[in-house]
Amino acid sequence: MRTPLLAANWKMYKTVAEAEAFVLALLDLAEGVEVGGVEVVIAPPFTALSAVAAGVVDTGIGVAGQDLHAEAEGAFTGAISAGMLVEAGATHVIIGHSERRRLFGDTDDAVNRKTKAALAAGLIPIVCVGETLEERDGGEMPAVLTRQLRGGLDGLSAEQVGGLVVAYEPVWAIGTGRTASTAQAGEAHAHIRSTLGDAFGADAADSCRILYGGSVKPGNVRELVAEADVDGALVGGASLDPESFHQIVAGGRGAGL
Ligand code: 13P
Repeated sequence: MRTPLLAANWKMYKTVAEAEAFVLALLDLAEGVEVGGVEVVIAPPFTALSAVAAGVVDTGIGVAGQDLHAEAEGAFTGAISAGMLVEAGATHVIIGHSERRRLFGDTDDAVNRKTKAALAAGLIPIVCVGETLEERDGGEMPAVLTRQLRGGLDGLSAEQVGGLVVAYEPVWAIGTGRTASTAQAGEAHAHIRSTLGDAFGADAADSCRILYGGSVKPGNVRELVAEADVDGALVGGASLDPESFHQIVAGGRGAGL
């Protein structure tokens, strides 16, 4: 049985003060409404990692970096290593987000090196995959996902893959208000799980959690997580408001979970 995971990707939003205010508001809301049975992770900008980690201490809420460098240290201006994330209080790290791939040139090979560095430091990787609209329209969705998964997870053990998180984020649904239909999400997630099964075996595929991301809102999270292979959500815009993210967490318990 996979525990649903609801993750907030704040991207380049929120100062330290805003992040602290969010955490206080979210914990206030969580006291009023029971949202047990799910895991929650918040990915703030690097500057607010320590503050968020301090704010959620002893709550079970995880904290994620939004990226990392594959090396432990070195002359890499602007970069952050896995060890630095751990020291700042991170438990997870997002890797290969489509914005990193598109705007910063992250390749499948870079995703692979970053994933290995994260695992070596004890972080849980949230590895993002997803096709563009052009690729979807060209019928390439399955091939793109297979390539990103095989490249990004190359050389990992079945146990490592079983313990990490994959996020399916169709690029055309990110920040567009356009959500994949439940059937589209279900189809892509099933493809991801079968690709993981082929490469790493049934046990790894069964225990790996696959999140959906792309315009997830309080109003659509329930039907998305009701899909058999959708184990939660990676939420951008709608995670910036504590009320909205709290509703998403509550909805993420979903039917039959
Ligand atoms: P939105 O929820 O704003 O579409 O962003 C999705 C995303 O990129 C989460 O990583």
